[in-house]
Amino acid sequence: MAEVIVVDSAAAAGELVASHIVREVASLPAYTLGVATGSTPLPVYEALAAHARAGVDFSQVSAFALDEYVGLPAGHPESYRAVVDRHVAQPLGLDPRNVHVPDGSLAGIETAGQRYEDALSGHGGVDLQLLGIGATGHLGFNEPGSSFGSLTRVKTLTERTRIDNARFFASLDEVPIHCVTQGLGTILRARHLVLLAFGEGKADAVAAAVEGPLTASMPGSAIQLHAHVTVVLDPAAASGLEHREYYQWAQDHKPDWQGI
Ligand code: GLP
Repeated sequence: MAEVIVVDSAAAAGELVASHIVREVASLPAYTLGVATGSTPLPVYEALAAHARAGVDFSQVSAFALDEYVGLPAGHPESYRAVVDRHVAQPLGLDPRNVHVPDGSLAGIETAGQRYEDALSGHGGVDLQLLGIGATGHLGFNEPGSSFGSLTRVKTLTERTRIDNARFFASLDEVPIHCVTQGLGTILRARHLVLLAFGEGKADAVAAAVEGPLTASMPGSAIQLHAHVTVVLDPAAASGLEHREYYQWAQDHKPDWQGI
C-alpha cells in the first residue's frame, strides 16, 4: 500500500516533498528527479527554487520529464521542454545537459519512445518520480487503457485531457492530439513514486488510484504495484478515500526514523 499523507495545503505539500528531495540531494548530489508537468507539482518546484536561492546546490541533479506533446513548433512556450526549463531547470540551476524531455518533433517521431527509453536506462533510471493525476486517471499521458507494462511511446490524448489542457493554449484546436509519454512500466521502474493531488476535482481519481481495483481503465491504479509510493494530498483531494482515518493514524504513529 502506498503511504498517504494529508497536509493542509498545496504549499505545505510542496515544502514537505521539496525538503525530502533536498535531504536526498545532500547525500547523493547526482540525484535524478522525474518531473511532471501540469499545475500540481508547481508548489514542489517553487519550494525547491526557494531552497536553491538559499544556497542548496542542484548543479549535479538530472531531470527526466514524463511526457511531451507531438508536433508543437520548437520553443513553443507550452511544450513540456519549455515548461520544464521555466519551472525546474532554470530556477534550480540545473545543467541543461542533464535535462531530458521526450522528443516530440515530427521528424523521427517513430523512434522517439525507444530513444527516450535508451536515455533513461543509459542514465541509470530515476530516483524519485513526481506524479500528478489527470481527471481521467492518467499518469503522464497514459490514458485509460494503457498497459501496466507499457514503455515510452506515442499516445493519443482523450478529448477530456485536450479540453483540460486547452487552458494553456489559445484554443482547443491548438492542443496537440498526440504525445510521447513514458509508459506505466517506465514509471514503475523509478525507485520512489510521489503522487500529488489537490482539490475536490481530483478526489475521485485519487480514490480510484489508491484504493480501487488494479485496472488499465484507471492508469493511476498502477501505483499499487510499486514498493515505495508516497501520496501527498490536500483535504479536498483526500475526501473520497475510504481508509482516510487509518492513513492519519499511521501518520500519527510514524516512527521518527522513517522518511517519506
Ligand atoms: C497533464 C500531464 C500530467 C499531469 C496532468 C494533471 O496532462 N501530462 O503529467 O499530471 O495533466 O494536470 P494538473 O496537475 O494541471 O491537474
